Amino acid sequence: MANPNFLLVAFPSQSHINPALQLASRLLRTGASVTFTTTTSAHRRMTGLQKSDRLTFATYSDGVEEGLKPSTNSLEHLMDETARRCSEALRQLIETSQSKGQNFTCIIYTAVAPWVADVARCYDIPSIVLWIQPATLFEIYYYYLNGYGGNITNESNGPPSPTPLPGLPPLTGRDIPSFLSPGSPFGFLLTLIEKQIQVLKEDRRPRVLVNTFDALELEQLNAIDELELVAIGPLLPSFEGQDSSNASLRGDLFQGSGDYIKWLGTKPAASVIYISFGSISTLLKPQKEEIARGLLSTGRPFLWVIRKGGDHGKQEESEDGLSCEEELRKQGMIVPWCSQVEVLSHPSVGCFVTHCGWNSTLESLVCGVPMVALPLWADQLTNAMLIEDVWRVGVRADGNGGGIVEGGELERCLELVMGGGKRSEGMRGKAEKLKDLAREAAKEGGSADKNLKAFLEEIVSS
Ligand code: UDX
Repeated sequence: MANPNFLLVAFPSQSHINPALQLASRLLRTGASVTFTTTTSAHRRMTGLQKSDRLTFATYSDGVEEGLKPSTNSLEHLMDETARRCSEALRQLIETSQSKGQNFTCIIYTAVAPWVADVARCYDIPSIVLWIQPATLFEIYYYYLNGYGGNITNESNGPPSPTPLPGLPPLTGRDIPSFLSPGSPFGFLLTLIEKQIQVLKEDRRPRVLVNTFDALELEQLNAIDELELVAIGPLLPSFEGQDSSNASLRGDLFQGSGDYIKWLGTKPAASVIYISFGSISTLLKPQKEEIARGLLSTGRPFLWVIRKGGDHGKQEESEDGLSCEEELRKQGMIVPWCSQVEVLSHPSVGCFVTHCGWNSTLESLVCGVPMVALPLWADQLTNAMLIEDVWRVGVRADGNGGGIVEGGELERCLELVMGGGKRSEGMRGKAEKLKDLAREAAKEGGSADKNLKAFLEEIVSS
């Protein structure tokens, strides 16, 4: 039988491209062929991509070349455009492949993109979602959208939900994804998630691939009867301790600079604070000033990522103009981008101040680094709850009811995590334990490996 041929469709953002590329690496290692698809402008910006046998790239225009400006169009409009353009490109790609006698065995796509399943069905090709957030989020959305909305409180100061969901403590308004909050401007994304879940339920064998691992979210993975959640994570670029045959693909959308690894090498073990807010969100200047104040008052060295030149080259954040820039540069290092997994696996890093994007959270867990959570929106609020209340590998900073986290509050959290003492040691111990479990899951013969192989065997034989 010919080796399987996968079409992998990644939404054009770093948090989708990273796990999709890691999944591509794993599929290639099994002897499969992969066509990796994203937008032309994202692909053009992907640096660090190595050539690999049996891996081809196919791109489609997101309209940037034709003058569609993401900054002046609403996210909803952008999603509609992506759906339209992606569907059209997939049709062409499938038809061209079929005309050459090269059929796709399966289409794997990063959620949320129900339109991909619609296209796959037209050509009778099996498709499956890669969920790039924790299983917990899938569980919450599923329950919310399937008759349990009343059990999930969404008032920021309301009482906890009366009936806890499987594997989770009673949730308060502070713990739920921001899309469920009353008046959320991203309600249309909830509608898209609803459509995605509906499409999945209609599958012959309803299931989802999830970038998590069994030992981390076992109950949440088993919380839904009519849908199978298959944990194939952690899907991460190679981390320290992995053997070189596991070399994985990278595709950074941003450019780094500065010899931060050399600088980290000059610092004592577990002494450096690493700060990053992912690839999408930008911080308002007053919040950055407060973070700077908090960092300075700890007196600890830090590495802070402040992105420059964001999506589609537009100028995003800059440290320019921070009132205490000179003092900051004496105490720490500010970079526009870095190789995050390399940083987190450096022995001198002792704490990650994070927005709790799922990739960042998972990367911190895999590297055994405790966290200070400063969630901003979406799943990040729930991930912060998991970090503090469920896995107990960090603390959540209090933003005074969703407002700015003040410097003093950041300093308090950093001392809790890095200051020694029982709670600090407890968090570090739990982080070490989860690190071992994550690596156990990812290695050959581990749970992720077994789950992915079982899925592949079934796809190939069906
Ligand atoms: C988005 C949402 O904001 C998040 O809530 C959701 O969980 C996933 O989609 P993003 O904000 O980009 O993601 O955060 P995250 O999921 O953490 O992904 C960022 C990626 O960029 C990580 O893989 C991280 O390693 C990488 N990164 C970030 C770098 O490689 N270098 C950097 O300097 C900063």
